[in-house]
Amino acid sequence: MLILIAHSLLGKIGGVRMMLEKISITAMMILCSSLTATSANAQQQTDAHGRQWWQNAVFYEIYPRSFADSNNDGIGDLNGITSKLDYLRELGVDAIWITPCFPSPQVDFGYDVSDYEAIDPMYGTMKDFDRLVKEAKKRSIRIILDFVVNHTSNQHKWFLDSRSSKSSKYRDWYIWRDGRGDQPPNNWQSEFGVPAWTFDKKTGQYYYNYFYPQQPDLNWRNPAVKEAMLDVTRFWYKRGVAGFRLDAVDTLFEDPNLTDNPAAPGKDKFGRPNFARIHNTKLPEVHTVLQDLRKIADQYDAVLIGETWTKDIAELKNYYGENSNELQMPMDLMFGTVNKLSAPEFRRQIAAVDTAGGWPVFVISNHDMARSYNRYGDGVHNDQIAKLMASLYLTLRGSPIMYYGEELGMENNDPKRKEDVKDPQGITGWPGEIGRDGERTPMQWSTAKNAGFSNTKPWLPVPASYKTHNVETEMKDPNSVLSVYRQLLVMRHTEPALVNGNYTALNEDDPNVLSYLRQDKDEAIVVMLNMSNTPQKVKLNLKPLGFASPKLSVLLSTSQSPAAAGTAESLELAPFGAVIAKVTK
Ligand code: NOJ
Ligand code: CA
Repeated sequence: MLILIAHSLLGKIGGVRMMLEKISITAMMILCSSLTATSANAQQQTDAHGRQWWQNAVFYEIYPRSFADSNNDGIGDLNGITSKLDYLRELGVDAIWITPCFPSPQVDFGYDVSDYEAIDPMYGTMKDFDRLVKEAKKRSIRIILDFVVNHTSNQHKWFLDSRSSKSSKYRDWYIWRDGRGDQPPNNWQSEFGVPAWTFDKKTGQYYYNYFYPQQPDLNWRNPAVKEAMLDVTRFWYKRGVAGFRLDAVDTLFEDPNLTDNPAAPGKDKFGRPNFARIHNTKLPEVHTVLQDLRKIADQYDAVLIGETWTKDIAELKNYYGENSNELQMPMDLMFGTVNKLSAPEFRRQIAAVDTAGGWPVFVISNHDMARSYNRYGDGVHNDQIAKLMASLYLTLRGSPIMYYGEELGMENNDPKRKEDVKDPQGITGWPGEIGRDGERTPMQWSTAKNAGFSNTKPWLPVPASYKTHNVETEMKDPNSVLSVYRQLLVMRHTEPALVNGNYTALNEDDPNVLSYLRQDKDEAIVVMLNMSNTPQKVKLNLKPLGFASPKLSVLLSTSQSPAAAGTAESLELAPFGAVIAKVTK
């Protein structure tokens, strides 16, 4: 294998005990393309280590409105995604999670579903969807859909019937209650800065909506709701879907007695007094539903990924299920809330999730949070920091979920004026809460107009930086953020220590450099990440870990200057530099 030849060559160059040599980025690029076929092996259902496909997979989130516009109406679509599958395969992606593409009035851009078993015409047809699945399969890419379990659109036929009369067949599919006098039934608040209860004149009652009034909550205590929703998953599994990302699972159940939530300190982002949401989020009943969803998923070798906002590891642990019978992949969203580049904070968070007992899931940005490029960037070294963050979350034990464009160093393009805002959160919350448009802008494919996303003005504007940060340009640059991502993804699929290895923190007192060892039997890789803006010296002591006379050969160094080189006693990392090296005994 080429990569092994590269290692032995590097060993020869090294000579002394722990000589580091910067591998030529061009050589890595050649490795990338020659190993693309090998990475497809990650699709096997179980491997020699008993790992399931989703444990070996790299996931990639696609916001379909913004990925690729095949019919030039300014909005991305399924045929657009299909046309980019070769790019995704070459990048090293094994599964794509498509945020909701079902019929929807688009009040919350698809998170208000009016039919769970169809495709919104703006995104294409069911035939287009079937073709996407088929073409993806040819490239060993699995499709994950987004299942909005907590609520439907107020235009869903279930809700239209439900609101029509108190005695309608679907009345009890939603949560209807009388008010307290002329006030809502209790003090619960919506997540989106509006009242959580909406009065409906027709029947003189309120319905409950944890999000927008156009997103009424389903009543999961009604067995008919549960059956219908479980059936939705069967419908898509039969069409070849490999799993679901479950939206807002924390909010499925509410206290049937509608007990008021207690006041909490401070105000929320909409300026309202806070309440501890103990009676309308994270109720234990959710676990029964997750177990039911899981039983069906298991019949189709499918994976369930959870949008799990947990306050600590104990809560996260619960989502795996007591007998590992709930979510295989609850997202560790706490990792993404480490909002500053801090070696100690990341070290703590990684160690915590590593001991949770389940398979970790790492996410650094998504369609609800500012892009990692902005959150971690210091305005000067942003590309360097983007490479550093990639070197972090793509080398940990667990499955990463990338967000489209993250591999380019795409930045937020936030609206500057209220009249430009599309996201309902921003419309309600402006100017304190500007909404999520900034992180949802079109994928940057090239230097062409609209970043090659569409011939028409896109639904959201691309930032000026698309001229430098786009697929076409970055593919040609061996030092681009994209090139680093591609190299990392090759490594993830080919290096046994990264695929199967355990995680051991190194130099735990270092305030600036996050270092760790990934080890699988005799295969070991050390990762060193300088989270500071000054050069840092690292001294590794690998002897207690069984490396009597360790030799390092560098697989990846993200900095050109100064070159990462030195001995175990004195390795130098450039500001925000990352070095990943293979260790032999
Ligand atoms: C979480 C989704 O990620 C977000 O985009 C959406 O607005 C809410 N759930 C409501 O469905
Ligand atoms: Ca389109």
